Amino acid sequence: MPSIKMFTGEGIPLEMHKVRIVQKLRLIPIEDRLKAITEAGNNTFLLQNRDVFLDMLTDSGVNAMSDNQLASMITADDAYAGSATFTRLADKLAEIFGTKYFLPAHQGRACEHILAKTYVTEGSVVPTNFHFTTTKAHITLCGGSMEEVIIDEGLKTKSTYPFKGNTDIAKLRAVLEKNGPQKTAFVRLEAGTNLVGGQPFSLENMKDVRKVCDEYGLTLVLDASLLQDNLYFIKTREENCKHKTIREITREIADLSDIIYFSARKLGAARGGGIITSSEKAYKTMRPLIPMFEGFLTYGGMSVREMEAMTVGLEETMDEDVINQGPQFIEYMVNDLDRKGIPVVTPAGGLGCHLDASGFIPHVPQVEYPAGALAAAMYIAGAVRGMERGTLSEQRNPDGSERLSEFELLRLALPRRVFTLSQVKYAIDRITWLYENRALIGGLKFVEEPPVLRFFFGRLDPVSDWQTKLAAKFRADLGDSL
Ligand code: F0G
Repeated sequence: MPSIKMFTGEGIPLEMHKVRIVQKLRLIPIEDRLKAITEAGNNTFLLQNRDVFLDMLTDSGVNAMSDNQLASMITADDAYAGSATFTRLADKLAEIFGTKYFLPAHQGRACEHILAKTYVTEGSVVPTNFHFTTTKAHITLCGGSMEEVIIDEGLKTKSTYPFKGNTDIAKLRAVLEKNGPQKTAFVRLEAGTNLVGGQPFSLENMKDVRKVCDEYGLTLVLDASLLQDNLYFIKTREENCKHKTIREITREIADLSDIIYFSARKLGAARGGGIITSSEKAYKTMRPLIPMFEGFLTYGGMSVREMEAMTVGLEETMDEDVINQGPQFIEYMVNDLDRKGIPVVTPAGGLGCHLDASGFIPHVPQVEYPAGALAAAMYIAGAVRGMERGTLSEQRNPDGSERLSEFELLRLALPRRVFTLSQVKYAIDRITWLYENRALIGGLKFVEEPPVLRFFFGRLDPVSDWQTKLAAKFRADLGDSL
């Protein structure tokens, strides 16, 4: 892709698409925002989307679809069995990834359910660069556990290392030596490692992981949900891959994997998921579970319209001008905040911009959920909805004490091609104001705490009247601005 230089030298990301369908947004006054977050129990999952100006909760199922994706939906072939839509999708996956078999599933976690049920038994271990919440839940449910073998650099919020999602090969070997190949269900690699800030692995590192799997005779499973961003980073950050096309890099990654699964709510910009493999044995072992838990083999719980859009979306993922949009907008946001001295996860990854709440509000103790408090404050300050990724998202220890998270992050996702540069600038402005007034932000305490997945449904109160004071300061600083 030829780079575009501004005559003025200003470094801005440029939208390589134009807007043809829009959704009107509402920005409610701060007093109403304060009321809305209180009614939502200070939990951004419980906010009504109509009260949100910029929904940065997730990139899952909310990426903008292209004109060609939408057009393709009309050609969907509605059939319970043998739908032509399924064949088109299966053919596209085979063409891009070079795999022989495709098992459709309704979303990413459904693939994880099938994989865990097939390969994980009581006492199994799954080494992984880093866990994802739903992956861990399914593996644990089947009696297994996950061992994280990410490089140390991946656990630092501030870094210049380009591949913070890399596996530490020595750590991987140590885990395999400790447990032995018999107890190891499979080795899992997550592209665009979500919970460390959407950080990629390098192709070179994946080759090293493959070598270790071959040595121990282990299956390598790739979670390709965030592959799109990872592909872009390999292409732009890995010296040996600069000359390769996105299609070539994808194929190399696929050839190194035994089984690939993905959430098509992210990869392919539609809604659904699937497992692909060239192993007949793996395919035949997992196949019976699809009609049992998902739907018949030619739709797997997905709408054929979404499958049709996914086929087009996957093809568009091979276009660098399409996949560079997310990372470039995220990079703009991260670098701008970083320059202002505001704590963010660096280098910029995929998925979104991650504010480091531990650095942002160090006066809020971890047991008062700093990332959750920052999420509530961010909504009050700008009607921007982010997602807490910290202690609140953890589950308590069996003795009832808090399991303190390694990170206290507020994830501000940038669903792909959804927000314009001025909207990103607005978010930066409100974050900057919040940082100036960070001393006003206080903690949260549970008033209703569900025993599992507490971050989805839990309700919290502020520990003091800090939110009213924050809203009053906003009025004092910004007058009658929304
Ligand atoms: N794997 C990764 C790396 C993910 O990020 C997700 C979802 C899944 C698996 C599960 O896929 O949602 O289709 O069932 N991540 C979403 C997020 C929920 O907001 O980060 P799913």
